[in-house]
Amino acid sequence: MNIAVLYGGKSGEHEVSLRSASAIARHIPAEANGVVLIGITKNGAWHLQSGEALQKVRSDHSALLTVEESPETLVSVVPGAGGAGALRCAGKAIPVDVVFPVLHGTFGEDGTVQGLCEMADLPYVGGGVMASAVAMDKEKTKILWQAAGLPVVPFIAVKYAHWVNEAERRLLVQKADKELGWPMFVKPACAGSSVGAARASNAEELEKRAGEAFAWDDKIIIEPFIPAREIECSVTGNEAPVAYTPGEIIPTHEFYDYDAKYNDPDGASLKIPADLSDQTTKKVRQIAVEAYKTLDLSGLSRVDFFIDKRNDALYLNEINTIPGFTSISMFAKMCEASGLPYPDLVMKLVHLAKA
Ligand code: DAL
Ligand code: MG
Repeated sequence: MNIAVLYGGKSGEHEVSLRSASAIARHIPAEANGVVLIGITKNGAWHLQSGEALQKVRSDHSALLTVEESPETLVSVVPGAGGAGALRCAGKAIPVDVVFPVLHGTFGEDGTVQGLCEMADLPYVGGGVMASAVAMDKEKTKILWQAAGLPVVPFIAVKYAHWVNEAERRLLVQKADKELGWPMFVKPACAGSSVGAARASNAEELEKRAGEAFAWDDKIIIEPFIPAREIECSVTGNEAPVAYTPGEIIPTHEFYDYDAKYNDPDGASLKIPADLSDQTTKKVRQIAVEAYKTLDLSGLSRVDFFIDKRNDALYLNEINTIPGFTSISMFAKMCEASGLPYPDLVMKLVHLAKA
């Protein structure tokens, strides 16, 4: 099987993708599979990478993929061409049976690249167009989960056009004050890895944090800041999804921010399995599957929960349809704890790919 790994991309999580894709490329069993690396620049150009790049990450476990670009390596996508001829470089077909979009955030996790694969008749790993697009939008996700009777943290979604109007902004701050209470948590509606996410303790800070979050998206979400344990649960599958052993993130920062995730080696510790009662573990797994099915997801997702430290209330936080995928990332670790080693997980996802 020839697997095209797409990585990098036009997203605030470009660097995270380099790490995830390096691990995936390294762990695809080489004897049975060909791997084609396609690096996507921050401007969105697709470039075919050399065989040496693949050899390098496979032989050196600390090596990271980069995106090398030149006019000769530009890749084009041909609508309707089917697997064999759908991706081309320098006039030649690139042999591909399945695309693995190891892309986080915008133009990767949000239905756009999934739509491109559909147009080109290329099977791809992970959720479809609608499911990916909805799961990327924290407001729409919460609305659907609420409608399905699943527990979500209360929220207010605000569009930039309303926020910049001073009178409307004042009313929104009043509404947040009345409905949510302080402190609050502000995040872009469509972003990942906590980029642009921060706490606000008063109206002045809320204005500042909202301004920062709007740098990432023209819609933001405001929620009450809940002192919470962060519990995560991996799910894989298509028609009959399964949830794995939940894990817990124990951040040393105020919350699991971008630095704690990727820059500070002591930013958090991971505990798998999470220290939960059997009953809560069962509930987390059940809700994770329901949350996944409600969005019509397929392939994989990591479902993130909060447990309020004050009263043990369980809330769905968000869902990541292409979660961080290094060999020490929670997604893979939680599957491993349930008896699915990393290379088997990768191949399972490839076989679940939708044609
Ligand atoms: N958005 C990052 C990659 C994650 O949730 O793991
Ligand atoms: Mg996320």
